[in-house]
Amino acid sequence: MSDNKVVAPELSVLRGRHSSKWRRFPEDVIPMHVAEMDFQIAEPIAARIIKMTTENDLGYLGPVPEVAASFEKFAKTRWGWQIEPSYLHLATDVGVAVVEFLRTHLKPGEKVIINTPVYSGFYHWLEELEIEPLDVPLITGNHEYLFDFDGLERAFAAGHRIFLLCNPHNPVGRAFSREELTRLAALARKYDAIVLSDEIHAPLTYGEFVPYLACGEDAAATGVCITSSSKSWNLAGLKAAFILAQSPSIDEMLKALPEGMHWRTSIVGAFAMAEAFENGTPWLDATLVTLDENRRHLATELERLLPSVKYHIPEAGYLAWLDISELGLTNEEIFAKAKVAFVPGPEMGGDAYKNFARFNFGTSKEIITEALERIQRAL
Ligand SMILES: Cc1ncc(COP(=O)(O)O)c(C=O)c1O
Repeated sequence: MSDNKVVAPELSVLRGRHSSKWRRFPEDVIPMHVAEMDFQIAEPIAARIIKMTTENDLGYLGPVPEVAASFEKFAKTRWGWQIEPSYLHLATDVGVAVVEFLRTHLKPGEKVIINTPVYSGFYHWLEELEIEPLDVPLITGNHEYLFDFDGLERAFAAGHRIFLLCNPHNPVGRAFSREELTRLAALARKYDAIVLSDEIHAPLTYGEFVPYLACGEDAAATGVCITSSSKSWNLAGLKAAFILAQSPSIDEMLKALPEGMHWRTSIVGAFAMAEAFENGTPWLDATLVTLDENRRHLATELERLLPSVKYHIPEAGYLAWLDISELGLTNEEIFAKAKVAFVPGPEMGGDAYKNFARFNFGTSKEIITEALERIQRAL
């Protein structure tokens, strides 16, 4: 961190990294696809990982009360949300927690409600379970992206009991309001449904973030939160997350999940996660400053270089959902001619989104600009 800002190294340095972001495509491609940031990680987390390694402390995972204790403080201070620490259960990652919850409580052939456009992982998780997505697309009035409450009610009334919510929403960048979530909770309770709320992007909300489980009795009676430090502190490779209830009845549903979820969590990941919630706030705040500049930089640079692209500045996270319908290049052409890798819109909900692309701005302003300049040159 310099001057209270996080910095991303140059492309030549980044290309030496070993993650999927830097290995999936040839060297001449700028990868702006997978949700991973390019900044250096927080110092207290790096120190914890080094300490565990030098002290040969890399065995199987035992109890880790530090995760619940640190998240309890973080959630209270940051969002005014009082969790019940005993209802927190460790999980390998968010994907595993969702899959194990659904495997335990649904049967193949049943359906889970989602709102497209939505994070492609949701499709893969459901496919693994032979569970079908039931799409109730977000309503896009003026690029706002709102819940279709009538559509959700129809789905609940038809007997589909589980809604996999993404909040903040990947890729549209909405952080849903207390009013929206409270209305959703009342609806879910009316139909005895469950809202699985994937809140992995929550700490990176620019304004107010409202946790589903903090939305009163209906939310407590219907909600499950699944989250991790992995997205906000950039620790995806460390494999640690958790699943959390707010009421005894939902906690009983979580207790039915396989114990293996705990054992398959990484010891380094679990302690890095505790470190993130306990001592990672200065880094998080610095990262939010940089990302806030980046989300605006992207708007300025799109206006300058690619004015036909429509972009609504996200309320959370570092993913931009770009409408490229008037650009004159498809996702495939952007990749082939400009050598810039986005997540093509169809991965987030099929052909309806073929004119959209997801762009990761969790990097330096120079790399953002270079990616856009490459596309401009390819026009
Ligand atoms: C909304 C959302 N949920 C889950 C994940 C993946 O989380 P994990 O690696 O913990 O399974 C991502 C990754 O980008 C995501 O955007």
